[in-house]
Amino acid sequence: MNLIERPRRLRRTESIRALVRETRLSPDDFVYPLFVCEGEGVRREVSSMPGVFNLSIDHLVKEAEAARGAGVRSVILFGVPDQKDPVGSQAYAEDGITQRAIRAIKREVKDVLVITDNCLCEYTDHGHCGVIESGEVLNDPTLELLARTAVSQAEAGADIIAPSNMMDGFVAAIRDALDEAGFEQTPIMSYAVKYASGFYGPFREAAGSTPQFGDRRAYQMDPANVREAMREAEMDFEQGADILMVKPALPYLDIIRAISERFDLPVAAYQVSGEYAMIKAAARLGWIDEERVALESLTSIKRAGAGIILTYFAVEMAKRLS
Ligand code: PBG
Repeated sequence: MNLIERPRRLRRTESIRALVRETRLSPDDFVYPLFVCEGEGVRREVSSMPGVFNLSIDHLVKEAEAARGAGVRSVILFGVPDQKDPVGSQAYAEDGITQRAIRAIKREVKDVLVITDNCLCEYTDHGHCGVIESGEVLNDPTLELLARTAVSQAEAGADIIAPSNMMDGFVAAIRDALDEAGFEQTPIMSYAVKYASGFYGPFREAAGSTPQFGDRRAYQMDPANVREAMREAEMDFEQGADILMVKPALPYLDIIRAISERFDLPVAAYQVSGEYAMIKAAARLGWIDEERVALESLTSIKRAGAGIILTYFAVEMAKRLS
């Protein structure tokens, strides 16, 4: 008699659901991406990313302050320079837009962790992530420039360097350069597993980094591969990465799960621009409940094994969670 199991007993009220909930999001999990551009008084909305802006340094500082006020402790910066050239020299210029932005935030916002994206695509006129010869992105000459970029970001005050360029050997190159410059305490959050994804579209509008020819499939990963992801992560682990990132997030939950089970390093996932834009767009049409879907997506990313989530929803969600 009475042999049926009754899991509904633990679902009847919010109090009991809260008691047995397995995955909890906290504002501490979030990293808030910010786009910094030249000028003053600039706060230009990215058309494909409602609620996300290109910010001049004065507004950037305000935004970082507001995020901190809402409980978000970490930001990741993307520089959008006015001048671009074939070798992305503004990426490693001492007075480059990103370097000035780091100094301003560190000077004016208390207790905020500044992470910097480390790549050349926002700084090159051709929009690729490295230097080009005969239509190909050269690996080793690019490493040198990425290493210079990392050191200049650390010198400006960056707390964590996040290389996203997908050149072979980038973690070792950046680690060596940082150590040599006296930044052996600066962690590297590697975009270890970064797929060549259609979900980056809106970001490229925000950063003006669409490749002028070809695409990134010769250096970013094929979405079909998981064994290759393990190999990429293994290499970054061995080269000294402190945190491993998977990107994008929602279409790659299986990868997040596999990486988090195999490596004893913190795992990050990037809920990218296209993931954000889809939720915003469908919500605007009245087709989904934005807050609910955003929360559900972020919960699933954490449930899959990512303790750190880079998300454009960081501030809205932090407010919601507190
Ligand atoms: C490269 C970089 C990209 C993103 C983060 N770092 C774009 C790309 O590889 O084309 C995408 C992030 C997003 O879509 O939100 N520097």
